[in-house]
Amino acid sequence: MRVGIIGTGRIAEKAAITLRGLTEVEAYAVGSRHQDTADAFAKKWDIPKAYGSYAALIADPDIDLIYIGTPHSHHFDVTREAILSGKPCLVEKAFMANSRQTQEILDLAHQQKVFVAEAIWTRYQPVVSIILDLISSGRIGEPRMVTATLGYSMGNKERIMRPDLCGGALLDLGVYALNFVRMFFPADILCIDGHCVKSDTGMDLTNTMTLILKDGVLCNLQSSASCVGDNIGVIAGTEGNLIIDNINNPQQITVNGPNRTFIETIRVPQQITGYEYQFLACRQALIDGRLEPVEMPHKETLYIMQLMDSLRQKWGVRYPMDI
Ligand SMILES: NC(=O)c1ccc[n+]([C@@H]2O[C@H](COP(=O)([O-])OP(=O)(O)OC[C@H]3O[C@@H](n4cnc5c(N)ncnc54)[C@H](OP(=O)(O)O)[C@@H]3O)[C@@H](O)[C@H]2O)c1
Repeated sequence: MRVGIIGTGRIAEKAAITLRGLTEVEAYAVGSRHQDTADAFAKKWDIPKAYGSYAALIADPDIDLIYIGTPHSHHFDVTREAILSGKPCLVEKAFMANSRQTQEILDLAHQQKVFVAEAIWTRYQPVVSIILDLISSGRIGEPRMVTATLGYSMGNKERIMRPDLCGGALLDLGVYALNFVRMFFPADILCIDGHCVKSDTGMDLTNTMTLILKDGVLCNLQSSASCVGDNIGVIAGTEGNLIIDNINNPQQITVNGPNRTFIETIRVPQQITGYEYQFLACRQALIDGRLEPVEMPHKETLYIMQLMDSLRQKWGVRYPMDI
C-alpha cells in the first residue's frame, strides 16, 4: 500500500518513521504547502515523491492511501478533496472540528464509496483485545469505575491555543480518554458533564469529564495541554483493578486483586512505534473492500465527535466552524 503523507509536522514524522519499519506499506509521497518543505521531508525520510501542494499529492494516481496530519481545522477541506478524487483517507484525530463536519465527510465517503478512517491509533493496537479479554474473564470482578488522565505540557503551541486551528486539550488529548472508555465500555452514556480551565484565547487547557454509563460504570477523565499528567488509566472492579500505563500508547497492564494485591504485569507485543497497526488496518480494509475499519467504525468516530461537541458547548469553547 503506497501512502501519501499530507503535512510535515510532528505526527507526519512519526508516520514516516513507522512506515520505514513496515514491508507491506510504504511512504510513497509527501505533500506540503511549500515545495522546499516537502523536498526536505522527502529527503530526510527517503520518500520518492514530494509535492508542494496538497492538491498535487491528491492528484497522484499511484497513491493507495492518503494520511492527513494537518491541524484539526484543516482535516475537513483536505479529506473532502481527497474523497472527491476517489482516494482512501486515514485522518488524524480529532477526525474533524465538530460532528457537523464529521457527518458531512462520512456521508460523502459513503456516496462516493471511498474508504475513510480516523487515525486514533490506540483503537487499532493489540492491547485492546488483551484488556477486553481481561475484563470479560472476570479477573477484576464487575467493573464499576474508570479513571484516566492524559496531560502534556505544550507551552503556547499555536495548534492548541488558536480557535481557528481548533485548539484546546479536548480534541487533542481528551479524545484519547473518551476512546479509552468507549473501547472497553460501549454501553449507552446516561449523562456526561465536565469543567475546564481556559486559555486567554478561550480554548480548554485543562479539563475534567464525568460519564455515567447505563451499566452502572462511572468514568472520571482528565486531559490537559498545560501539565505533565501521569497518563494512567485504571479500570476498577469489585474484585480487583487493571492499571494501564499509559492510555496514549499502552505498554503494560498491571493486574491487581482484592485489597490491591499484585497479581501480574502484562506487556504489549513489541512495536515499531505503535502507529503501525492503524496503517495495517487500513490496508486490510482496502483488501476486503470495506469503507471503514473494523477497529474504529464510522458511528464511533461520529459519536465521539458528538460527545466533544456537547462538552465544548457546556464550556463555551467555540471554533469558527461551529455555526
Ligand atoms: N496520533 C498521535 O499520537 C498524534 C500526536 C500528535 C498530533 N496528532 C494529530 O496530528 C495532527 C497534526 O498535529 P502535529 O502535532 O503534527 O501538528 P504540527 O506539528 O503543527 O504539524 C501540522 C502540519 O500541518 C500542516 N499545516 C497545514 N495548515 C497549517 C496551519 N494553518 N498551521 C500549521 N500547520 C499547518 C503543516 O505542514 P506543511 O507546512 O508541510 O503544509 C504542519 O507541519 C493533529 O490532528 C493532531 O491532533 C496525533
